Parts: sequence; structure tokens; C-alpha cells
Amino acid sequence: MKILVTEKIATKGIDAMLQSGAIVDEMVGINREHLLEIIAEYDALVVRSVTKVDEELYERAGNLKVVGRAGNGIDNIEIEGATKRGIIVVNTPDANSVSAAEMSIGLLLASCRNITQADALLRSKVWDRKGFKGIELNGKTVGIVGLGRIGSLVATRLQAFGMKTIAYDPYITDERFKKFGVEKKEILEDLVRESDFITLHTPKTEETFGMIGEEAFRIAKKGIVVVNCARGGIVDEDALVKAIEDGTVAYAGIDVLVQEPNTTSPLLELKNVVNTPHLGADTVEAQDNVGITIAEEVISALRGEMVPNA
Ligand code: NAD
Ligand code: MLT
Repeated sequence: MKILVTEKIATKGIDAMLQSGAIVDEMVGINREHLLEIIAEYDALVVRSVTKVDEELYERAGNLKVVGRAGNGIDNIEIEGATKRGIIVVNTPDANSVSAAEMSIGLLLASCRNITQADALLRSKVWDRKGFKGIELNGKTVGIVGLGRIGSLVATRLQAFGMKTIAYDPYITDERFKKFGVEKKEILEDLVRESDFITLHTPKTEETFGMIGEEAFRIAKKGIVVVNCARGGIVDEDALVKAIEDGTVAYAGIDVLVQEPNTTSPLLELKNVVNTPHLGADTVEAQDNVGITIAEEVISALRGEMVPNA
């Protein structure tokens, strides 16, 4: 069994693959051309969110049997191409949910309390207690778009802050809303109108791409807070910049961008935005969990055994 790993995963994951007797080549950051040249040698490929696993790659990957996505979102992997070639795609959707939920709340608090901006100013030797008046969460309404694994974890945690939780998710049962004590909104517009804070927790699909955009900002309350720790583009970035500039959005917390890596987004220039470079799953616990889980899944798939997240 020969496994190629193209993005950083936890040592515990690599060790688990080696212990199974597999040959593991770690080539973190390998360039595309080189990847296309060597992929034919491998039975399995393990990636995170940067490596594009597409038709061009499948065409060159004559021995590929398994693609392991060490993480949750599979928008960088073409599933159809894999399926038609009998290549199994596995991911680890539960392994980093708590970390992503905690990061979403971190971004929400950091942005609406100006934590990173105040820290930066103090580091420049300015003690300013006047310029950073924030807003409380208590008594406010948070609109959660997507009440899946992460959205529901965010909901119950924000309820502990005294927030009213409402959500829009047309694909789940009413029981799930009840289970998490979240009020269901049948249409997105109602959620947008009623929310003081909006946090996104859907996958990136044709339907969700740009779902919070100009139209949403037109009907939103003035001074809302927007958090995107899901996927770049679910909040339209140009519309968000405009909405921040015209005061519709008071604060934003952004972990993900359409183009990644990215050091030139206009969002990075705005003082009331807290930006992080896709760190939602970057905790010791999540990465160990993800690494071990993906190793077990890839090995099981290569051995022809049952795999939970295929
Ligand atoms: P999930 O599949 O458990 O939940 C997603 C929910 O979104 C589902 O309940 C689904 O019904 C709902 N949904 C789908 N389309 C929708 C639509 N058009 N409108 C409203 N709701 C819709 O996914 P999850 O594990 O909670 O992950 C959520 C997002 O977080 C994904 O985009 C994932 O890639 C991302 N993520 C990011 C990080 C990070 O590092 N920033 C880490 C983990 C996950
Ligand atoms: C995920 O979908 O799991 C996240 O993007 C985290 C990651 O892979 O870094």
C-alpha cells in the first residue's frame, strides 16, 4: 500500500498509516505538476483543503483507489470523477467540529469586542480605552445558517451567552431544531431580517455560494455582525466589503476566503474585521482526531473493509 500525503496532517495519523505496513510519502506543499507526474505510483492520496483532486488528476492516477480528505469539506474533490472510476473518497466530518464551532464563537467575540485591534494598538504602545466600545451577546439574536454538526454546536454554546438562536436549514427535520432549542426560519430572508449576528455553517454548494450577499445586506438590521468559518464565498466578499463600509455590517469574523491562500483581500484592510487564515480546525485535539481517523479510514478502504465516512 503506497500513500501520498500532500498537506500537513498530525504525526499520529502518519504513524497509524505506517503501523499498518503502508509506505507513506509526505510531500507537503508539492506543486501541481510534480503531483501529476507521480500520482500514478500511489494507491491512496491524503489531502486537506488546498490540493485540487479533479478530472486531470484522476486521468493520471491509474492506481488510485482511495482519496482521504483529512477534514470535513470536500469541495476541493470531484466526487463524480472518483465514483465513475471506483475510487473511494473518505473524510472525517466529525473530527474537527468542536474546534470549528469554538473558532466561530472566538471570531464572533473577538470581532464585536475589538480584541485583535485593541491588542495591536497596545502592542504599538498606545493605551486607548475609548476607541473600542463593543457590543454584548446577551439578549441578542443569532441567525445560524446550516444547523448541522457545527451549526448545532454553535447554537447550544451561544444559548449559554443568553442569545436567542434562530436557524435556516431547509434540509433537516423540525425535530432537530427542537432538539437544539433553535427557532426554525422557513426562509433565509426572515433569518436575515431578525438577526443581530449571522453565522454561516453550510457546505459550499451552488446554492450556498453568495447566499449572504447584496440582497441580504439590503434587508439586514444596521450594525449586524457576520461570521464565516465555513467556506469562502458563502458570504459574498465584495458585498461584505460594501456593507462594512456603509455601516450595515458593524463587525465581521472571517476564517475562510474564496481564494486561499490570500494576503490581498480587501477584507484584510478593514479595521472592524477579524481575519484568520483558515484556522477553524487547527487545534491539537482536532488535528490528532482528524489524523488518526483519516489513517484508519484510508487503511480500511485499501483493505476492502467497511469505511464509515465513504
Ligand atoms: P454538516 O453537513 O454537518 O452541516 C451543514 C448543514 O448545512 C446541514 O444541516 C445542511 O442541511 C445545511 N445546508 C446545506 N445547504 C443549505 C442551504 N442551502 N441553506 C441552509 N442550510 C443548508 O457540515 P458541518 O460539519 O457543520 O460543516 C459546516 C461547514 O464548515 C462546511 O462548509 C465545512 O467545510 C466547514 N468547516 C470549516 C472548518 C474551518 O476550518 N474553517 C472546519 C470544519 C468545517
Ligand atoms: C475542514 O473542512 O475540515 C476545514 O477546512 C479544515 C481543514 O481541513 O483545515
